Parts: sequence; structure tokens; C-alpha cells
Amino acid sequence: MKQMIKLNNDRYRLGYHVSAPAGWINDPNGFCYYKGYYHIFYQYHPYSADWGPMHWGHSRSKDLVHWESLPIALAPDTKADEDGCFSGSAIVKDDVLYLIYTGHHYYDDGDPDHFWQNQNLAYSTDGINFTKYENNPIIASAPEDNTHHFRDPKVWEKDGKYYMILGSQGKDGVGRAITYRSDDLKDWQYLGEIAKANGLTTEGFMWECPDFFELADKDILLLSPQGIEAQGQKYLNLFQTGYFVGNFDYSTNTFEHGGFTELDHGHDFYATQTTLAPDGRRLVFGWMDMWESKFPEKADGWAGALTLLRELELKDDQLYMRPVKEAVQLRTAEISAWNKQVTEKTLLCENEHQAEIDLTLTTDQAFELAFTDQDKQVKLTFDQATHTFTLLNGDARYASIKPNSELKLQIFIDTSSLEIFINDGEAVFTERFYFDNAPQVWLTAKAQCLTQVYRLNGQAITFE
Ligand code: FRU
Repeated sequence: MKQMIKLNNDRYRLGYHVSAPAGWINDPNGFCYYKGYYHIFYQYHPYSADWGPMHWGHSRSKDLVHWESLPIALAPDTKADEDGCFSGSAIVKDDVLYLIYTGHHYYDDGDPDHFWQNQNLAYSTDGINFTKYENNPIIASAPEDNTHHFRDPKVWEKDGKYYMILGSQGKDGVGRAITYRSDDLKDWQYLGEIAKANGLTTEGFMWECPDFFELADKDILLLSPQGIEAQGQKYLNLFQTGYFVGNFDYSTNTFEHGGFTELDHGHDFYATQTTLAPDGRRLVFGWMDMWESKFPEKADGWAGALTLLRELELKDDQLYMRPVKEAVQLRTAEISAWNKQVTEKTLLCENEHQAEIDLTLTTDQAFELAFTDQDKQVKLTFDQATHTFTLLNGDARYASIKPNSELKLQIFIDTSSLEIFINDGEAVFTERFYFDNAPQVWLTAKAQCLTQVYRLNGQAITFE
């Protein structure tokens, strides 16, 4: 029997983010609400801290804040998914929880780029134990007008029909999203392409993890394109996650939309998945890492985590992304609170591995926030003239906001992650960082500054 990998050091372990008990994780999958619990699954390799044959790891929560780690939901153990249970989604139908996921298959020539993909179904009535559908696959192969890149099904219901959107590459080598329709989640009819990259280097050669949903009377296509080239301060990560806002016509399968916009400005954000909460909020998780990053925690027996759960809102055709309101439940103590004119370098927080710093600054000047530990540092600077934030964590990432003399920053620190929400989610930076000690957080500004610092604790629940 293969042995699951074990943790050997907890120096970088996260306190309130979803991560695996040990081993590698990437994309969030199957985000849904079922029988009183929110469920989140993730791409998981339990046998090492490196990517490998994909399983679906699983966590659930009653309150969106405390996550309970559950047994592995899917393993690549059938002919239909023999080389991996790749990303997918969940939907509840007739009180049954269905998972729809991609089966990954290699040709036996040792070439990792020589593969084919199909789509599969599994179901559960307790939200813990899953049975694979006996007639898998539900979609045996990619359509004629597609290459072998055919994965990451996201399923939703509209007017009694089920729709599936898939990440795809057209025969012309360009990234695109295609849809299928079904009456019963089992038999699917190909509808065709709903959106396509306007160019290989501008919008990518492959669109991974598409998600499609209504928000504020618009339709949003959220996805993770591969192959976009950096342009000035934009698209600086290896791969991007962003969205198109538009209107979808179900009768013609056409999506009129505007341009591509990045959703997060940090180094570590990819492969998002949303769900519609019972109260109508559109909630989103991302993978809080990036392909080909160093992952220093691999030495400790694990790699990767999901972001803090966020709520999406659409304002003037821009997606705002802020922490779910339930995140206040993570606060266990108020460390400090003050309102004063700051004129010099001021220490906001130290010795806290898990903390939230809320700052409201009224200023017409540049300012700087530094997260430091001895010679290591992550720095955020704001330039009033261009309304641009620059985040330095190794190299730089940028976000420009609308002109505003009052700035609101909500900062979440969790041992080796840093998430900075600016002006209620107008701009967000998501970062991993690896210090030996908890960071000292310094503000250098000339500003009227209202500050609250909280200690956080989101201890994971153990599944019995
Ligand atoms: C995105 C992705 C998906 C795929 C999965 C495999 O990060 O490449 O397209 O299903 O990861 O783990």
C-alpha cells in the first residue's frame, strides 16, 4: 500500500485557510451547499508534496469560517479517470450531491503533454462518501472542433435544464469556453463555443477552470487563461485569472462581452470557483499559489492552500472581491485600536502569526506598509499621483484604483499568506510569503489613520 505523506514541520502551516492535512493541493473544486454544510473540494495529491495523479480532497463548513477536513472524495481508480480526477464542480439535484469532473488519460508513451480528457459523474447522499456513476464517462471525448485540452466542467441549472461550461482549446490553437446542455446530468448535448480568446498572447492558448454566473443582471465568465503575455503592469504571473462581463442569450448560445480583466493583483491567485450561497451571495475561492512557484513548504510535507473565502459584487462592470462577512468570527482578541494623525514610521503589529489589520487612511500623500522579519520583507506602497499600489514580494505587482482621498485596507495575515483588500475589494493582492518569525508590520505615512488590529484563530475541526 502506498503511504500518504505526513507533515514534518508546521512552521508555514496556515491557521484559518483550507489546506490539505498533508500533500499537494491546487484548484478548488465542487464548491456547493448541501444538507446544511458548505462543501469545498480541491485538486489533491496525498502521496507527496508535488503534483501527481489527482484526487479530490474535501472540507466542509457550517459557518464559512471553520473548515473540517473530510476523507478523500474521489481517487483515480476507474478506467474512466485512470490518470487523474481533474477539476470540476458540484450540483445538487433531487437531494443528491453530484460531482462532475474531468478524467485525465495519458497515452503510454511517457510524454506528459500527450493526453486526452473526458467528463465524469459521481454522487453522494451524505456529502461524505461518493460513488462513481456506473456509465462513466458522461462525455467520452472532446468535440470534433476541439484539441485534447477539454476539462474543468462547471455545471449550473437554468429553467429546468442543466448547462456545462468547459475549458477548451479550439482546433486553431486558441483558448475558448464551450457549453453542453442536459436534462438529467447524464446525457449531454454539445452546444458549441460561447467565447474565445481574441489572440494567443492577448487572451491565451487554453482557458482553464471556466465559471459562468449571473451577477447584478449581467453574465460573468470567470476563467484562468494560459499563455497571456505580460503587458506593462498587467498579466505578470505565469498564468492569469480574470473575467469577461456581458450578456448571455440561452436561445442562441451567444455571449456578448467586454474585455478581459484580471481579478486579483497578487502573485498567488489562480483557478477560481464560485458558488451561489442560499442567501444569494456569489462566493469565490481561489488557489492561493501559482504553477511553478517554489513552495518552500514542500520540505515540510505539504504544498498549497485555498484563499480566504470572498464575496463577489459587480459595480460599474467591475468585480469587487472582499472577505466574506463571516470572517469577523475569526477574531479572538483586539490587539490595538486607535485613531490619530500619523507622521512617522509606526509599528502596527508584531508577534502575530494570524492577524487582521484594518486601516482607514485619509491622506493626499504617498504611503508605505512594510511586512518585515530581519532581512526579509514584503512591501506595499501607494502613489497618490497615479493612484497605484505596488506590491513587492520578490518582484513587483501593481493595482490602480479610482482617485480617492480616503483609503480602506483590510489585511489578513496567516503564517505564510497575506491577503490585502483595498476599498472593499476594488483591488486585491494575494500573496504567499515565508518568514522565520511573525512579521512586524510598519506603516510609514503622513495621514489621519484609524486602525484596528485583531488576533485571529480559525482552528480546523477534526472529522470523527
Ligand atoms: C488548473 C488545472 C486544471 C486541471 C487541474 C489539474 O490549475 O491545470 O485545468 O483540471 O489543474 O490538477
